[in-house]
Amino acid sequence: MVVTEVASVHDSDWPYERAPLAASGWGGVLAACRPHGALVLAGIGHAGGQGSSAHRREALWAPSRVPDVVSREVPMAVEQPEIDALVAGFAAAAALAAAQDLDGVEVDAGEFSVLRQFLSGLTNRRTDGYGTDRTRLLREVLAAVRAGLGDDRVLGLRLSCDEMAPWGGITPDEGLATAAAVAGAVDYLVPVRGGAMAASRPDLHVAPGFGTRLCAAARRATGAPTVLQGGVVDPAAARAALDSGVADLVEMTRAQIADPDLVAHVRAGRPDRVRPCTLSNQRTAVRDPRNPVVSDEVEPSAGHELDDEWPPPVDPVPRDALVVGGGPAGLEAARTLALRGHRVRLVERGPVLGGALHWAAAVHGRARMGLPVPWWAAELRRLGVVVELGVEATPDDLDAVERAGAAVVLATGSRPAPPAFDSDRPVVAAGEFEAAVLSAGSTPAALADLTGPGFRKATMLPPGFRNVAFLNPGAVVVRDPIGDGTGVGIAEQVAAAGWATVLVTPDQVAGTQLARTGDLAPANARLARAGVARELRSTVRAVVDGRAVLEHVWTGEGRTLDCALVLDCGHRLPADALWRARPHLSRAGDCVAPRTLYEAVLEGRRAAAAAVSR
Ligand SMILES: Cc1cc2nc3c(=O)[nH]c(=O)nc-3n(C[C@H](O)[C@H](O)[C@H](O)COP(=O)(O)O)c2cc1C
Ligand code: SF4
Repeated sequence: MVVTEVASVHDSDWPYERAPLAASGWGGVLAACRPHGALVLAGIGHAGGQGSSAHRREALWAPSRVPDVVSREVPMAVEQPEIDALVAGFAAAAALAAAQDLDGVEVDAGEFSVLRQFLSGLTNRRTDGYGTDRTRLLREVLAAVRAGLGDDRVLGLRLSCDEMAPWGGITPDEGLATAAAVAGAVDYLVPVRGGAMAASRPDLHVAPGFGTRLCAAARRATGAPTVLQGGVVDPAAARAALDSGVADLVEMTRAQIADPDLVAHVRAGRPDRVRPCTLSNQRTAVRDPRNPVVSDEVEPSAGHELDDEWPPPVDPVPRDALVVGGGPAGLEAARTLALRGHRVRLVERGPVLGGALHWAAAVHGRARMGLPVPWWAAELRRLGVVVELGVEATPDDLDAVERAGAAVVLATGSRPAPPAFDSDRPVVAAGEFEAAVLSAGSTPAALADLTGPGFRKATMLPPGFRNVAFLNPGAVVVRDPIGDGTGVGIAEQVAAAGWATVLVTPDQVAGTQLARTGDLAPANARLARAGVARELRSTVRAVVDGRAVLEHVWTGEGRTLDCALVLDCGHRLPADALWRARPHLSRAGDCVAPRTLYEAVLEGRRAAAAAVSR
């Protein structure tokens, strides 16, 4: 069953540039899905005060004049004519869905919705009938939708049953009471939580299946067919939720973006072939301020299905192919070449596959980032790719395989950039630090090795003494000029090992890039709990006599702090020596420019196609 992205039922709502409008219909989606045997339901809703006035250039509609916590924009409180228009909009959208022969609709009273805003004491301060009975608008909408839809199609309801704001928001008791009150009007219920992305779609720091308790409680409270939502990414977990009576249906959104063939693999009895979702929310943010098409870090053709030739065609003449490098770009290039019918050999100079993912997954809290690596290894085995570890290719080797007619892809990854400042204490790049942790067996052991003998005892904090960053002879300084998950995770990791830790960032908040993944506030809360000191709006200029010299990026004001070691989470450089020696060859990923998993996978596919077309 495919439920489409929520479409706005009224043109007062245009919450983000690519947001669909219900009045445009769903014909294309239906035509694409129905031949495959899928049911298609239209998501319908209105973002209310959580919308954007940038596109419509008119005031936002909301129950009361309570500004949204994100946009901080004061909406207008709707009066009866606007409420009538909302109800009529829902009815018209349902009628259009029925006229287009969709299988039903799912009404959105979830995290981004005016219906939730009416249900919540945080946003509904009305004194009229829609305030004294906050469920009134929802009930009117459901009745109007049923009338527009007819009795023979499915009416689902997505309902925020816990705003996780117990001081004034919808509590689970209140949410489940609302669910029970309207259960008779709907065919199924999807209990969700929160009023923003961080709660309904948290990143990999929240364990999969986080909606399980709420779902089970809603199913008990309502007796209605109930859908489990929230981080269900493993088919076995989905099966367990159905078998144990937690849910009647299971929603798997990110899981199926990460692997659009999930259902096919499960049906074929091969759930092990499902490509794992990392849950890191790298490319699946709808409200990304850069406004890209939503895509996927492990399936970059997601969102680009009409542009990308994927799965790739089988080439008429099989060739030998060599891929140099066993990180994500090389693994995907090898997979692509094998899918295209070629005889592929992959060489990796290190002892394991995974490249940068290998160490990225060692960063505190980011273990799921490593899940695609064993999946790739299994796929390459299945496709007959020969993988050789501990083998370093030379330019002469490349010449020899080329002379023998083989296609070649270079995916040699990245190397640390030299420190951007002078230092008389060790400066270690994030990747090399995690490699040291993996080889030493633990973070404390790696830190002891890196800071040298005699340093360890002096800088270890006494038990329970976590919040002091300036013990002589020094803290571990985490330099984070990027602000993604690496700097934050490494700071957490060092603090958890008992070391005084200072995160230095030029930004006004730690982990600024995590706003896109939903982890910004949780990350800062974790840093605070771990006792990590944050030096904001600052850059490391030097480390002299064991003191890090910090400069305020606005005022230029300098200050120092005792420093045992700098862990540098800055940008890396391409490891492109092989390509420089043979620049006619195809290359992919970090050896072009060190970026993310997404670009590595995408370019692995492209470089494979380019290599065999030469
Ligand atoms: C790209 C993307 C688009 C989404 N669009 C909507 C939407 O339009 N309406 C909605 O209620 N939820 C939307 N969601 C939230 C999902 O329905 C789901 O609740 C959330 O991703 C958590 O479930 P998961 O862990 O299975 O991904 C979206 C999620 C993603 C990743
Ligand atoms: S981008 Fe990452 S979190 Fe989002 S669906 Fe893909 S693998 Fe999962």
